[in-house]
Amino acid sequence: MQETKELKEIFIIEGGIPLEGKVQISGAKNSALPNMVASILTDEPVILENVPDLLDTRNMIEILNKIGISSHFEDGKLSLVFNKAPNPETDYKLVQKMRASILVLGALTARFGYAKVYMPGGCSIGYRPVDLHINALEKMGAKIEIDHGYITAKAPNGLKGTIIDFPKKTVTGTENIMMAATLAKGKTVIKNAAKEPEVVDLANLLIKMGAKISGAGTDTIIIEGVNKLQSARHTIIPDRIEAGTFVILSALTGGRIYIENYPKKYLTYFEKTLEEIGISVVPVNNKTVIVRRERDLKPTYVETREYPYFPTDLQAQMMVLLCFANGVSKIKENIFENRFMHVPELKRMGAKIDVDTKNQIATINKIDKLQGAIVKATDLRASAAMVIAGLVAEGTTVIEDIYHLRRGYENIESKLKNLGAKIKTEYKEN
Ligand code: UD1
Repeated sequence: MQETKELKEIFIIEGGIPLEGKVQISGAKNSALPNMVASILTDEPVILENVPDLLDTRNMIEILNKIGISSHFEDGKLSLVFNKAPNPETDYKLVQKMRASILVLGALTARFGYAKVYMPGGCSIGYRPVDLHINALEKMGAKIEIDHGYITAKAPNGLKGTIIDFPKKTVTGTENIMMAATLAKGKTVIKNAAKEPEVVDLANLLIKMGAKISGAGTDTIIIEGVNKLQSARHTIIPDRIEAGTFVILSALTGGRIYIENYPKKYLTYFEKTLEEIGISVVPVNNKTVIVRRERDLKPTYVETREYPYFPTDLQAQMMVLLCFANGVSKIKENIFENRFMHVPELKRMGAKIDVDTKNQIATINKIDKLQGAIVKATDLRASAAMVIAGLVAEGTTVIEDIYHLRRGYENIESKLKNLGAKIKTEYKEN
């Protein structure tokens, strides 16, 4: 029998070139995904603008299509309308590709009293259970069974409003329950809610659809259930993680990059951390910034925490920056238990980093330069760190497993090429 060989996408980067020009920040992946899922809650059209064209958003469109939602996606505008017979069961193949697919569980159960969703597995950055989503839906009256890897939720008489006090902050958990509560009977109070801007963006869309929500962006969200939601049009907020990635890239590659559509208000803590090191983000107008740095960068201590603090999704990129700070820096990862997989890859390029796995602390020592090497992208944000490292390094860097990057960075090569980067895509046999 002939074996079929899979082709893997790789990046080949020539480093050390100062980058200059303009880059436009895309819509936020983590906002687009839940906002798309909100279309399950109504049979009228939901129109989203500034939706990034990514593997994850394409995957979510496919999941929604299977559920019965028609879609049209062009130039960042995504129209979704639930106009087919509902199929509240999701496909294993689609769901296992993306943990955020758990977001359909709350909306389907609220609207149809039944949902079957494949349980998203552990993923490379940690165990990542979904117990908080499930316990909250049970508290709202759903009967949940887990069988052969599928989560089945049943609430034939609808969900009931209640108090959900999350023992730990969860972004998609908060979003899942907020969506479910819009169509539940009575009042739901979510305590210890996630405060991320993407949660607020979802609440804003739901409010436009007729939901009664107050408190999004604070620790307590209150939702009064309504019978029906309606059509709405909404523009997705800019991606603060992509924006932060370009700030770090700009600080390290020299040259002047105009970062447009920059969501400054969501990056206050990140900018404060950069100030400590000797990097400032300077507004050029109300949507564009440039980055200035001192020659000598100071070392620092960074701890990842929930919004508004330093985001775990910028931790890997920050580590590349701290390799060049003049002294010893430390990063403590508090959100995920296995999110230092980029460390061995950076070490291949000459980084001097030690990890205390028990306490999830990385110690980063100063180096003068990174050297090009063959490395792997180990998860979505780690792959962004490897791209930054490759662009800064001396010589050629080959990055394997680029599909991770495709999940969350829109048109990354063309954005980088426009800035003068030497980056090309090739395909290699697996
Ligand atoms: C979201 C983001 C992701 C980001 C993360 C933390 C989306 C689509 N993804 O992921 O990019 O890295 O927030 O900012 O918005 N937990 C449990 N049980 C649960 C749910 C979560 O123990 O049922 C734990 C997780 O393992 C983790 C912590 O809670 O340790 C926070 O996770 P959570 O905020 O839920 O992350 P996601 O919503 O999956």
